[in-house]
Amino acid sequence: MASRGNFSSKIGAVLAAAGSAVGLGNIWRFPTEAGRSGGGAFLLVYIFFVVAVCLPLLIAEFSIGRHSHANTGSAYRLMSPRSGWGWIGKLEVTTAFLILSYYAVVAGWTLFYTVEALFNRFNVMSRGDAGSSIFSDNFNHFVTDPLMPVICLAAFLLITHFVIIKGVKSGIERSAKVLMPFLFILLLVLVACSLSTEGVSKGLSFLFQPDFSKINSKVVMAAMAQAFYSLSLGMGCMCTYASYFSSETDISRTASQVCILDTIVAVTAGIVIFPAVFSVPGLEPDAGPSLVFIALPNIFQKVLGAVPIVAYICSLAFYLLLLVATLTSTISLHEVVTAALSESRQISRKRAALLVTAGCFILGALCSLSMGVLGDFKIAGMNLFDLFDFVTAKLMLLIAGFFTSIFTGWVMSKRILYDELTNDGTVKFRCFRLVVFALRYVVPICIGIVFLDGIGVLNIF
Ligand code: PHE
Repeated sequence: MASRGNFSSKIGAVLAAAGSAVGLGNIWRFPTEAGRSGGGAFLLVYIFFVVAVCLPLLIAEFSIGRHSHANTGSAYRLMSPRSGWGWIGKLEVTTAFLILSYYAVVAGWTLFYTVEALFNRFNVMSRGDAGSSIFSDNFNHFVTDPLMPVICLAAFLLITHFVIIKGVKSGIERSAKVLMPFLFILLLVLVACSLSTEGVSKGLSFLFQPDFSKINSKVVMAAMAQAFYSLSLGMGCMCTYASYFSSETDISRTASQVCILDTIVAVTAGIVIFPAVFSVPGLEPDAGPSLVFIALPNIFQKVLGAVPIVAYICSLAFYLLLLVATLTSTISLHEVVTAALSESRQISRKRAALLVTAGCFILGALCSLSMGVLGDFKIAGMNLFDLFDFVTAKLMLLIAGFFTSIFTGWVMSKRILYDELTNDGTVKFRCFRLVVFALRYVVPICIGIVFLDGIGVLNIF
């Protein structure tokens, strides 16, 4: 078995964890939800959940990971050997594997669109006379194709694979140190482009103007689920990364920094997207994924086409941003499974990584084909891709999050938790009781309600 790696610096640890958190969820899902559900009012609800539910849970996952110094699959068992809680870790590893399989499909799309942007294909498309339908035809044609998305999936998984086999320090940490600053630079370039469009005031007020009349229980649920997903909770990513933290890493501070960075990226993505969307009359600002792959390439050409080089730079910067954000997330998912496999089966990291990549490729290819040739194969009315999304994001993540909070709030020794949060008494942490209270009551109750609502048991909305 390979010896365990470690992050060599605090900033490396923060950037790697933030890299896991910042992903597609920040760039298309957050702005869309916020815009649709009361703008600034949604933002306030979202921030409440980040602080009250996600931050304590992130602190809990970090503490379990660092204390056990083990992969997520073994961490819970090591923390409490005779109590039978080890299954949470196994559930999280399985969730990470399944999420990686379909997340990598969308990641493959971002790769394809980055190459399209690089070759200025959107400009060529916007010159044809088919109007905006050419962009949706292009997208639909691409995702239903049996070959191209599968090739892109394979390419993306291979890139992830090569980072993973380089190890924790030279692979994960080094890539985060390069990719995350690059991501922030791309965001700034895009903000500058977007703020120069005519839709700027409309776009910003759509995103920020608080409209409390739109806040209802459904929106509150959506905000909580979004915060949970966005911070990569309940799938072992944060626990696994924390097992590589040094004993000097301040867990509560790192967790707060990750929450802040993740929220900043989500809000900034909204600042990029909406002014551009509102510059084109008649476009729907709440179109979800199709906004990113259908509307935006068109918008960049329409709004910035007068200066073609700006349209080119913006399109390329946007898809590169998506690519980088998804890559840092797929790396964290892959690591969860690779570390668990290599350490529990005592096989080399390289071998474990190969098995994970191959397994994800097979499942991912099936998910991808379920949008085209395998479209008729449905379970509970869903194709494979939607089924994976539903089972993982709506069920498994929440179950794992719920039991993690119960485990850390009620089962795990408070002494251990306290020692982790204060680095054995060497750093101050004043909110210990608050964190324990949140883990015992606030987090499980909130997650429980969202879960029951998600599976339709509550049906109160
Ligand atoms: N947190 C990521 C996002 O916002 C999603 C993700 C899910 C990342 C699972 C890693 C693992 O897009």
